[in-house]
Amino acid sequence: MAKYVAVAGKGGVGKTTFTALLLRQIINNNRDISILAVDADPNANLNEALGLEVTATISDLLEETKNPKAIPAGMPKDVFVEYKLQQTLVESQDIDLLVMGGPQGPGCYCYPNDLLRKYLENLGSNYDLIAIDTEAGLEHISRRTIPHVDMMFVISDSSARGIRSAGRVHDLIKGLHSAVGEVYLVVTKTSDNSLDALSEEIAKTGLKLIGEIPLDSSVVELDLAGQALYNLPDDSKAVQAVQKILERTQIF
Ligand SMILES: Nc1ncnc2c1ncn2[C@@H]1O[C@H](COP(=O)(O)OP(=O)(O)O)[C@@H](O)[C@H]1O
Ligand SMILES: [Mg+2]
Repeated sequence: MAKYVAVAGKGGVGKTTFTALLLRQIINNNRDISILAVDADPNANLNEALGLEVTATISDLLEETKNPKAIPAGMPKDVFVEYKLQQTLVESQDIDLLVMGGPQGPGCYCYPNDLLRKYLENLGSNYDLIAIDTEAGLEHISRRTIPHVDMMFVISDSSARGIRSAGRVHDLIKGLHSAVGEVYLVVTKTSDNSLDALSEEIAKTGLKLIGEIPLDSSVVELDLAGQALYNLPDDSKAVQAVQKILERTQIF
C-alpha cells in the first residue's frame, strides 16, 4: 500500500520547495519508488518546482461536470467523470502529478467529491508514495478526499510568527478525524543561530523538530530564473539538508 506524506504550513514558508526537494532525494536514492505528487494548494506551483506542465486541474473538471451539456449523450455521468479524472493526471518518467486547483464555488460537490475520493483511493494502489503539497487549511484532508496521512511535515520559516502559525496547523491536525501518523516540524530559510533563537517558540508548539533547511541562494536563483528546483546541484545546502531530514524519517 502507498505511503501518504503531506506537507503543510502557511503560504510562502517553503512547502513547495521542501516537497520538490524531498521527492528529488527519494528518486535519487531509489529510482524504483513510484511517486504520485498531489498539489492540493489552491495557489498551485508544485508543477513548476518539479518542471512539469499541467493542462487541467481537478477543480476545472469538477466545475465542468456540473454542466449537464458537457457530458456526451448516452455516456453515464460517473464514466464521464472518471474519464476526465484520468486526463488530469500528468505522467512523467519519475513522478506523476495531480493538481487539485482553486477552491470550489458554492453548491454541492458531494457527488464529484465522492468520485474523486474513490479515484484517489484506486490510484493510490498504483504507487509506493503519494506526496501531497497541501494548503494551510488542510481542507482536502479534513474532507477526506485524501484518505489518511502516514507522515506530515509542518513547515515554518525562521520567524516567531511562523512557528506560532505552525503550532496552529498542529492544533488543526490534532482536530482532524482522519488518521495522521507522525507529525514533524521543519524550519526553513534558517541562518546560523535561528534554531536557538526560536527554541522557546518551537517548544510551545509541541511539534517534534526534525530538521532545518538553511537559506540557500541557489534556491532563490533558480526561482528567479523560473527553473525547476529539481535541477539543484547535489551539493546545494538545501538539497543536503532535505537529504538529512529524509534519512531521519526512515520512510524509505
Ligand atoms: N531554503 C530556502 N532558501 C532560500 N529560499 C527559499 C528556501 N525555501 C523556500 N525559499 C523561497 O521562499 C519562497 C516561498 O517558497 P515556496 O516553497 O513556494 O513556499 P510555499 O509553497 O509554502 O508557499 C520562494 O521564493 C522560495 O524560493
Ligand atoms: Mg506552494
